[in-house]
Amino acid sequence: MTISSPQSVKGVLERWRAFLPVTAATPALTLGEGDTPLLATPRLAAWVGVDELYVKFEGMNPTASFKDRGMVVAVAKAAESGARTVICASTGNTAASAAAYAARAGLAAIVLLPGGKVAMAKVAQALAYGARAIAVEGSFDVALDVARELVARHPAALVNSVNPHRIAGQATAAYEICDALGRAPDVLALPVGNGGNITAYWAGFRRYQSGLPRIIGGQAAGAAPLVHGAPVEHPETIASAIRIGRPASWDTAVAAARESGGAFRAITDEAILEAYRQVAQLEGIFCEPSSAAGIAALRASVADGQTQAASSCVCVCTGHGLKDAQQAPSAEIITLSASADAVTNALRW
Ligand code: F0G
Repeated sequence: MTISSPQSVKGVLERWRAFLPVTAATPALTLGEGDTPLLATPRLAAWVGVDELYVKFEGMNPTASFKDRGMVVAVAKAAESGARTVICASTGNTAASAAAYAARAGLAAIVLLPGGKVAMAKVAQALAYGARAIAVEGSFDVALDVARELVARHPAALVNSVNPHRIAGQATAAYEICDALGRAPDVLALPVGNGGNITAYWAGFRRYQSGLPRIIGGQAAGAAPLVHGAPVEHPETIASAIRIGRPASWDTAVAAARESGGAFRAITDEAILEAYRQVAQLEGIFCEPSSAAGIAALRASVADGQTQAASSCVCVCTGHGLKDAQQAPSAEIITLSASADAVTNALRW
Protein backbone atom coordinates (compact mmCIF):
# COMPACT_ATOMS: atom_id res chain seq x y z
CA MET A 1 0.00 0.00 0.00
CA THR A 2 1.29 3.45 -0.86
CA ILE A 3 -0.48 6.60 0.19
CA SER A 4 0.97 9.41 -1.85
CA SER A 5 0.39 13.02 -1.05
CA PRO A 6 0.54 15.95 -3.46
CA GLN A 7 3.07 17.68 -1.29
CA SER A 8 5.96 15.80 0.21
CA VAL A 9 5.03 14.81 3.75
CA LYS A 10 7.95 13.21 5.52
CA GLY A 11 6.61 11.37 8.49
CA VAL A 12 8.47 9.35 11.06
CA LEU A 13 8.67 6.16 8.98
CA GLU A 14 10.35 7.86 6.05
CA ARG A 15 12.54 10.32 7.92
CA TRP A 16 13.87 7.80 10.46
CA ARG A 17 13.66 4.72 8.29
CA ALA A 18 17.20 3.58 9.12
CA PHE A 19 16.35 3.61 12.85
CA LEU A 20 13.06 1.76 12.54
CA PRO A 21 11.98 -1.81 11.78
CA VAL A 22 10.88 -0.80 8.27
CA THR A 23 11.02 -3.40 5.50
CA ALA A 24 10.07 -3.31 1.82
CA ALA A 25 6.69 -4.70 2.90
CA THR A 26 5.97 -1.99 5.50
CA PRO A 27 3.17 0.32 4.31
CA ALA A 28 4.23 3.95 3.80
CA LEU A 29 1.86 5.20 6.46
CA THR A 30 1.91 8.81 7.64
CA LEU A 31 -0.24 11.70 8.78
CA GLY A 32 2.80 14.00 8.92
CA GLU A 33 3.82 13.09 12.48
CA GLY A 34 7.13 14.04 14.10
CA ASP A 35 9.39 17.00 13.40
CA THR A 36 7.71 18.96 16.20
CA PRO A 37 9.10 22.30 17.35
CA LEU A 38 11.83 22.54 19.96
CA LEU A 39 11.15 26.02 21.30
CA ALA A 40 13.55 28.17 23.32
CA THR A 41 11.56 29.26 26.39
CA PRO A 42 13.55 31.94 28.27
CA ARG A 43 10.69 33.24 30.43
CA LEU A 44 9.74 29.74 31.50
CA ALA A 45 13.46 29.07 32.15
CA ALA A 46 13.52 31.96 34.65
CA TRP A 47 10.43 30.59 36.40
CA VAL A 48 11.88 27.09 36.55
CA GLY A 49 15.26 28.45 37.67
CA VAL A 50 17.60 27.34 34.88
CA ASP A 51 19.64 29.28 32.32
CA GLU A 52 18.71 27.29 29.25
CA LEU A 53 15.35 25.65 28.69
CA TYR A 54 13.56 24.34 25.62
CA VAL A 55 10.12 22.83 25.23
CA LYS A 56 9.64 19.97 22.79
CA PHE A 57 6.01 20.59 21.89
CA GLU A 58 4.62 17.19 21.01
CA GLY A 59 1.10 18.57 20.97
CA MET A 60 1.91 19.61 17.38
CA ASN A 61 1.57 16.03 16.12
CA PRO A 62 -1.42 15.10 13.89
CA THR A 63 -3.65 13.87 16.73
CA ALA A 64 -2.05 16.41 19.08
CA SER A 65 0.08 14.12 21.21
CA PHE A 66 3.44 12.33 21.13
CA LYS A 67 1.65 9.01 20.69
CA ASP A 68 1.59 9.48 16.91
CA ARG A 69 5.34 8.84 16.58
CA GLY A 70 5.06 5.33 17.92
CA MET A 71 1.56 4.63 16.67
CA VAL A 72 2.49 5.13 13.02
CA VAL A 73 5.13 2.42 13.39
CA ALA A 74 2.91 0.05 15.40
CA VAL A 75 -0.04 0.34 13.01
CA ALA A 76 2.13 0.03 9.90
CA LYS A 77 3.73 -3.12 11.31
CA ALA A 78 0.31 -4.48 12.30
CA ALA A 79 -0.93 -3.93 8.74
CA GLU A 80 2.25 -5.51 7.36
CA SER A 81 1.66 -8.60 9.47
CA GLY A 82 -1.86 -8.95 8.07
CA ALA A 83 -3.80 -7.75 11.12
CA ARG A 84 -7.23 -6.27 10.39
CA THR A 85 -7.86 -4.84 13.86
CA VAL A 86 -5.80 -2.94 16.41
CA ILE A 87 -6.73 -2.64 20.06
CA CYS A 88 -5.49 -0.59 23.00
CA ALA A 89 -6.33 0.48 26.51
CA SER A 90 -5.93 4.19 26.96
CA THR A 91 -6.34 7.25 29.14
CA GLY A 92 -7.29 8.96 25.86
CA ASN A 93 -4.32 9.95 23.76
CA THR A 94 -3.27 6.46 22.71
CA ALA A 95 -6.90 5.82 21.76
CA ALA A 96 -7.10 8.93 19.58
CA SER A 97 -3.82 8.08 17.89
CA ALA A 98 -4.62 4.39 17.36
CA ALA A 99 -7.99 5.34 15.90
CA ALA A 100 -6.46 7.85 13.48
CA TYR A 101 -3.68 5.61 12.19
CA ALA A 102 -6.00 2.61 11.94
CA ALA A 103 -8.36 4.69 9.81
CA ARG A 104 -5.48 5.85 7.65
CA ALA A 105 -4.28 2.25 7.17
CA GLY A 106 -7.76 0.86 6.56
CA LEU A 107 -7.85 -1.17 9.77
CA ALA A 108 -10.47 -1.35 12.51
CA ALA A 109 -9.69 0.05 15.97
CA ILE A 110 -11.08 -0.93 19.36
CA VAL A 111 -10.22 1.32 22.30
CA LEU A 112 -10.83 0.53 25.98
CA LEU A 113 -11.12 3.57 28.23
CA PRO A 114 -11.24 3.89 32.02
CA GLY A 115 -14.90 4.72 32.57
CA GLY A 116 -15.67 8.37 33.22
CA LYS A 117 -12.03 9.41 33.53
CA VAL A 118 -11.02 10.37 30.00
CA ALA A 119 -11.02 13.96 28.72
CA MET A 120 -14.01 14.39 26.39
CA ALA A 121 -12.07 15.75 23.43
CA LYS A 122 -9.97 12.58 23.32
CA VAL A 123 -13.08 10.40 23.25
CA ALA A 124 -14.46 12.66 20.51
CA GLN A 125 -11.28 12.14 18.49
CA ALA A 126 -11.41 8.35 18.79
CA LEU A 127 -15.07 8.28 17.76
CA ALA A 128 -14.57 10.73 14.93
CA TYR A 129 -11.87 8.48 13.46
CA GLY A 130 -14.34 5.61 13.58
CA ALA A 131 -13.01 3.55 16.48
CA ARG A 132 -15.25 1.35 18.58
CA ALA A 133 -14.82 2.80 22.05
CA ILE A 134 -15.74 0.94 25.21
CA ALA A 135 -15.58 2.34 28.73
CA VAL A 136 -14.55 -0.32 31.22
CA GLU A 137 -15.28 -0.07 34.93
CA GLY A 138 -12.05 0.74 36.72
CA SER A 139 -8.72 2.35 35.97
CA PHE A 140 -6.42 2.28 32.95
CA ASP A 141 -4.57 -0.61 34.56
CA VAL A 142 -7.55 -2.98 34.48
CA ALA A 143 -8.43 -1.81 30.96
CA LEU A 144 -4.95 -2.87 29.86
CA ASP A 145 -5.44 -6.27 31.53
CA VAL A 146 -8.61 -6.71 29.47
CA ALA A 147 -6.89 -5.61 26.24
CA ARG A 148 -4.09 -8.13 26.78
CA GLU A 149 -6.64 -10.89 27.34
CA LEU A 150 -8.55 -9.92 24.21
CA VAL A 151 -5.49 -10.17 21.94
CA ALA A 152 -4.78 -13.60 23.40
CA ARG A 153 -8.25 -14.66 22.29
CA HIS A 154 -8.88 -12.75 19.07
CA PRO A 155 -6.84 -11.87 15.99
CA ALA A 156 -5.95 -8.26 16.81
CA ALA A 157 -2.71 -6.36 17.36
CA LEU A 158 -2.12 -4.71 20.73
CA VAL A 159 -0.81 -1.17 20.14
CA ASN A 160 -0.14 -0.07 23.70
CA SER A 161 3.44 0.95 24.47
CA VAL A 162 4.22 -2.65 25.50
CA ASN A 163 4.41 -3.07 21.71
CA PRO A 164 8.13 -2.56 20.88
CA HIS A 165 7.27 -0.76 17.64
CA ARG A 166 5.70 2.01 19.69
CA ILE A 167 8.92 2.48 21.64
CA ALA A 168 11.04 2.49 18.47
CA GLY A 169 8.85 5.21 16.97
CA GLN A 170 8.76 7.35 20.10
CA ALA A 171 12.56 7.24 20.33
CA THR A 172 12.67 9.49 17.24
CA ALA A 173 11.87 12.49 19.46
CA ALA A 174 15.27 12.03 21.15
CA TYR A 175 16.98 12.04 17.73
CA GLU A 176 15.20 15.26 16.79
CA ILE A 177 16.26 16.95 20.03
CA CYS A 178 19.91 15.95 19.52
CA ASP A 179 19.83 17.21 15.92
CA ALA A 180 18.25 20.52 16.93
CA LEU A 181 20.67 21.21 19.81
CA GLY A 182 23.73 19.61 18.21
CA ARG A 183 23.92 17.23 21.19
CA ALA A 184 21.74 15.85 23.96
CA PRO A 185 20.70 18.33 26.67
CA ASP A 186 22.04 17.92 30.22
CA VAL A 187 18.55 17.22 31.54
CA LEU A 188 15.33 15.95 29.95
CA ALA A 189 12.10 16.20 31.96
CA LEU A 190 8.82 14.58 31.00
CA PRO A 191 5.56 13.31 32.50
CA VAL A 192 5.43 9.59 33.25
CA GLY A 193 2.36 7.36 33.35
CA ASN A 194 2.71 3.90 31.89
CA GLY A 195 6.47 4.36 31.51
CA GLY A 196 6.66 3.88 27.74
CA ASN A 197 7.84 7.33 26.79
CA ILE A 198 10.69 7.57 29.30
CA THR A 199 11.77 4.10 28.09
CA ALA A 200 11.71 5.32 24.49
CA TYR A 201 13.68 8.52 25.15
CA TRP A 202 16.39 6.68 27.05
CA ALA A 203 16.68 4.06 24.30
CA GLY A 204 16.78 6.86 21.73
CA PHE A 205 19.51 8.89 23.41
CA ARG A 206 21.66 5.81 23.90
CA ARG A 207 21.26 4.77 20.30
CA TYR A 208 21.91 8.21 18.81
CA GLN A 209 25.23 8.62 20.62
CA SER A 210 25.09 12.40 20.90
CA GLY A 211 25.38 12.44 24.67
CA LEU A 212 23.10 11.29 27.47
CA PRO A 213 20.82 13.53 29.54
CA ARG A 214 19.75 12.95 33.11
CA ILE A 215 16.07 12.08 32.83
CA ILE A 216 13.56 13.44 35.34
CA GLY A 217 10.11 11.87 35.31
CA GLY A 218 7.14 13.74 36.77
CA GLN A 219 4.34 11.60 38.22
CA ALA A 220 1.13 12.96 39.70
CA ALA A 221 1.31 12.69 43.50
CA GLY A 222 -1.88 10.61 43.59
CA ALA A 223 -0.58 8.26 40.89
CA ALA A 224 3.12 7.94 41.64
CA PRO A 225 3.96 4.22 41.82
CA LEU A 226 7.47 4.77 40.44
CA VAL A 227 8.23 7.30 43.18
CA HIS A 228 6.92 5.04 45.95
CA GLY A 229 8.32 1.84 44.46
CA ALA A 230 4.94 0.10 44.74
CA PRO A 231 1.76 -0.04 42.64
CA VAL A 232 -1.07 2.35 43.48
CA GLU A 233 -4.41 0.58 43.66
CA HIS A 234 -6.65 3.61 43.14
CA PRO A 235 -4.67 6.30 41.29
CA GLU A 236 -6.21 9.78 41.48
CA THR A 237 -5.19 13.05 39.83
CA ILE A 238 -6.61 15.80 37.65
CA ALA A 239 -3.87 14.83 35.19
CA SER A 240 -6.05 12.08 33.72
CA ALA A 241 -3.57 11.11 30.99
CA ILE A 242 -1.11 9.88 33.61
CA ARG A 243 -3.62 8.44 36.07
CA ILE A 244 -1.91 5.04 36.13
CA GLY A 245 -1.12 2.90 39.17
CA ARG A 246 0.65 -0.07 37.62
CA PRO A 247 2.94 1.08 34.79
CA ALA A 248 3.36 -1.64 32.18
CA SER A 249 6.93 -0.52 31.40
CA TRP A 250 7.91 -0.38 35.07
CA ASP A 251 11.35 -1.99 34.82
CA THR A 252 12.54 -0.10 31.76
CA ALA A 253 11.22 3.19 33.17
CA VAL A 254 13.09 2.63 36.43
CA ALA A 255 16.23 1.69 34.48
CA ALA A 256 15.98 4.89 32.41
CA ALA A 257 15.83 7.09 35.50
CA ARG A 258 18.54 5.19 37.35
CA GLU A 259 21.02 4.65 34.52
CA SER A 260 20.70 8.27 33.40
CA GLY A 261 21.35 9.57 36.92
CA GLY A 262 17.86 11.04 37.04
CA ALA A 263 14.85 10.43 39.24
CA PHE A 264 11.07 10.30 39.48
CA ARG A 265 9.28 13.01 41.40
CA ALA A 266 5.75 13.16 42.77
CA ILE A 267 4.05 16.41 41.80
CA THR A 268 0.87 17.66 43.45
CA ASP A 269 -2.08 18.52 41.23
CA GLU A 270 -1.68 22.16 42.31
CA ALA A 271 1.95 22.21 41.14
CA ILE A 272 1.02 20.52 37.86
CA LEU A 273 -1.67 23.12 37.23
CA GLU A 274 0.67 25.95 38.11
CA ALA A 275 3.24 24.73 35.56
CA TYR A 276 0.41 24.29 33.05
CA ARG A 277 -0.63 27.92 33.46
CA GLN A 278 2.93 29.24 33.43
CA VAL A 279 3.99 27.56 30.18
CA ALA A 280 0.87 28.92 28.51
CA GLN A 281 1.09 32.44 29.90
CA LEU A 282 4.86 32.88 29.78
CA GLU A 283 5.48 31.21 26.44
CA GLY A 284 2.21 30.81 24.53
CA ILE A 285 2.42 27.02 24.68
CA PHE A 286 -0.92 25.43 25.54
CA CYS A 287 -0.36 21.86 26.65
CA GLU A 288 -2.68 19.56 28.53
CA PRO A 289 -2.30 19.50 32.34
CA SER A 290 -0.56 16.09 32.37
CA SER A 291 1.99 17.46 29.93
CA ALA A 292 3.13 20.06 32.42
CA ALA A 293 4.21 17.48 35.02
CA GLY A 294 7.70 17.39 33.50
CA ILE A 295 8.09 21.15 33.87
CA ALA A 296 6.91 21.01 37.48
CA ALA A 297 9.28 18.11 38.18
CA LEU A 298 12.24 20.03 36.75
CA ARG A 299 11.36 23.09 38.83
CA ALA A 300 11.19 20.97 41.99
CA SER A 301 14.53 19.41 41.13
CA VAL A 302 16.14 22.85 40.77
CA ALA A 303 14.54 24.04 44.01
CA ASP A 304 16.10 21.24 46.06
CA GLY A 305 19.50 21.47 44.40
CA GLN A 306 19.42 18.26 42.36
CA THR A 307 19.58 20.19 39.09
CA GLN A 308 22.05 23.05 38.65
CA ALA A 309 20.88 26.33 37.15
CA ALA A 310 23.64 26.12 34.52
CA SER A 311 22.17 22.94 32.98
CA SER A 312 20.74 22.87 29.48
CA CYS A 313 17.25 21.43 29.85
CA VAL A 314 14.46 20.15 27.66
CA CYS A 315 10.90 19.66 28.90
CA VAL A 316 8.66 17.47 26.78
CA CYS A 317 5.10 18.80 26.53
CA THR A 318 3.41 15.60 25.47
CA GLY A 319 -0.10 16.68 24.46
CA HIS A 320 -2.04 19.74 23.31
CA GLY A 321 -4.12 21.81 25.71
CA LEU A 322 -7.23 21.65 23.55
CA LYS A 323 -7.50 17.96 24.39
CA ASP A 324 -8.19 18.57 28.07
CA ALA A 325 -9.35 22.15 28.50
CA GLN A 326 -11.45 21.55 31.62
CA GLN A 327 -8.67 22.83 33.84
CA ALA A 328 -8.08 26.03 31.86
CA PRO A 329 -8.41 29.17 34.00
CA SER A 330 -12.09 29.74 34.50
CA ALA A 331 -12.12 33.38 35.53
CA GLU A 332 -15.55 34.69 34.78
CA ILE A 333 -15.92 36.39 31.45
CA ILE A 334 -18.01 39.51 31.81
CA THR A 335 -20.54 40.42 29.15
CA LEU A 336 -20.81 44.10 28.26
CA SER A 337 -22.68 46.21 25.79
CA ALA A 338 -20.83 46.55 22.47
CA SER A 339 -19.18 49.84 23.30
CA ALA A 340 -15.53 50.88 23.52
CA ASP A 341 -16.42 53.01 26.56
CA ALA A 342 -17.89 50.03 28.41
CA VAL A 343 -14.82 47.87 27.65
CA THR A 344 -12.44 50.70 28.60
CA ASN A 345 -14.21 51.16 31.92
CA ALA A 346 -14.34 47.47 32.68
CA LEU A 347 -10.61 47.09 32.02
CA ARG A 348 -9.84 50.26 34.00
CA TRP A 349 -7.67 51.16 31.02
N1 F0G B 1 1.58 12.70 28.63
C1 F0G B 1 0.42 12.45 28.02
C2 F0G B 1 -0.31 13.61 27.43
C3 F0G B 1 -0.07 11.12 27.92
O1 F0G B 1 -1.20 10.89 27.29
C4 F0G B 1 0.68 10.07 28.51
C5 F0G B 1 0.21 8.70 28.44
C6 F0G B 1 1.88 10.39 29.14
C7 F0G B 1 2.30 11.71 29.18
C8 F0G B 1 2.74 9.38 29.80
O2 F0G B 1 3.40 8.57 28.88
O3 F0G B 1 2.48 6.39 29.54
O4 F0G B 1 4.48 6.55 28.08
O5 F0G B 1 4.62 7.15 30.49
N2 F0G B 1 -0.91 8.35 27.97
C9 F0G B 1 -1.33 6.97 27.75
C10 F0G B 1 -2.61 6.93 26.95
C11 F0G B 1 -1.31 6.12 28.93
O6 F0G B 1 -3.37 5.95 27.06
O7 F0G B 1 -2.86 7.83 26.16
P1 F0G B 1 3.78 7.08 29.28
